[in-house]
Amino acid sequence: METVVSGIRSTGNLHLGNYFGAIRNFLKMQNENNCFFFIADYHALTTHPHPDDLHGNIKQVLAEYLACGIDPEVATVFIQSDVPEVSELYLLLNMLAYVGELERTASFKDKIRLQPGNVNAGLLTYPVLMAADILMHRANKVPVGKDQEQHLEMTRHFARRFNMMYDVTYFPEPDAYNFGKQLLKIPGLNGSGKMGKSEGNGVFLFDTPQEIRKKVMRAVTDTGPLTPGQQPSEAVKNLFTLMSVVSDPQTLKYFEEKHAACEIRYGDLKKQLAEDIITVTEPIRFRINELLSDNRYLATVVSRGAEKARISASKTLREVREIIGYRPF
Ligand code: TRP
Repeated sequence: METVVSGIRSTGNLHLGNYFGAIRNFLKMQNENNCFFFIADYHALTTHPHPDDLHGNIKQVLAEYLACGIDPEVATVFIQSDVPEVSELYLLLNMLAYVGELERTASFKDKIRLQPGNVNAGLLTYPVLMAADILMHRANKVPVGKDQEQHLEMTRHFARRFNMMYDVTYFPEPDAYNFGKQLLKIPGLNGSGKMGKSEGNGVFLFDTPQEIRKKVMRAVTDTGPLTPGQQPSEAVKNLFTLMSVVSDPQTLKYFEEKHAACEIRYGDLKKQLAEDIITVTEPIRFRINELLSDNRYLATVVSRGAEKARISASKTLREVREIIGYRPF
């Protein structure tokens, strides 16, 4: 059995891309592994959320996670800031991380470009905090998307450096969890690229049916195929890809054939796509709202999760302190 750690920033509301790209795989994963799923609410501070928003954001993401079927009876579901051990491991790992390598991290360079007015040290050491999250539970596997691969690579470097420096084989070097063929890249509605929160091209799990219909009807298409058998444009291909995950195979086939025969009406395709997305998201949206109004339950989940996470975390920290040479008098 492998130990898996996965974090999601508390600023990110879940969209269809998260659901089909990752979370649906987590549901299988949680039954086969020792999983730690947490909400990264320390990482969220790098963008300075207002204190009035922070708690609500955390609660929203937690409810969304659980509504998708993450089972807190099976996996350890917790809030990062409920586990103070993470800040100590972060401090210790900072001594092994070099400023040069942190400055060369792609995500840091992006941030300098995107928010030049707020290049805080937390952004620079973001990969160290992430490494602390992962190494804390001595994970072997981390399910990450492309954008997080470099951070995982750095986690491996820090683990190896720690092991070398203290001549131990304490931290495993975690690998990306490979979903193989099941790894789906879900496109957005704006004609190109992946669905993402910041791209503004997504359908969120909590979107109402009206919002979903509006977003899908506005999705980018083209002027239609001119010759039979013509390849669909990128934008139309994206709609077919979305359809392939939410609709039944006959529906997809029907529209693909209409396209190939130059008889397609994109309005019909979009209407169908919107209804099929709603069929998938509606039960999740109801569950999100149910959970949001059950504060007692959410409180139980996070306190139980923190308790379980802290058992694992305090053991690691005890051993790490011993290895580093902190000894009792
Ligand atoms: N950096 C990740 C993201 O932006 C979130 C994250 C924080 C994470 N700590 C982690 C992911 C540990 C996996 C493991 O999505």
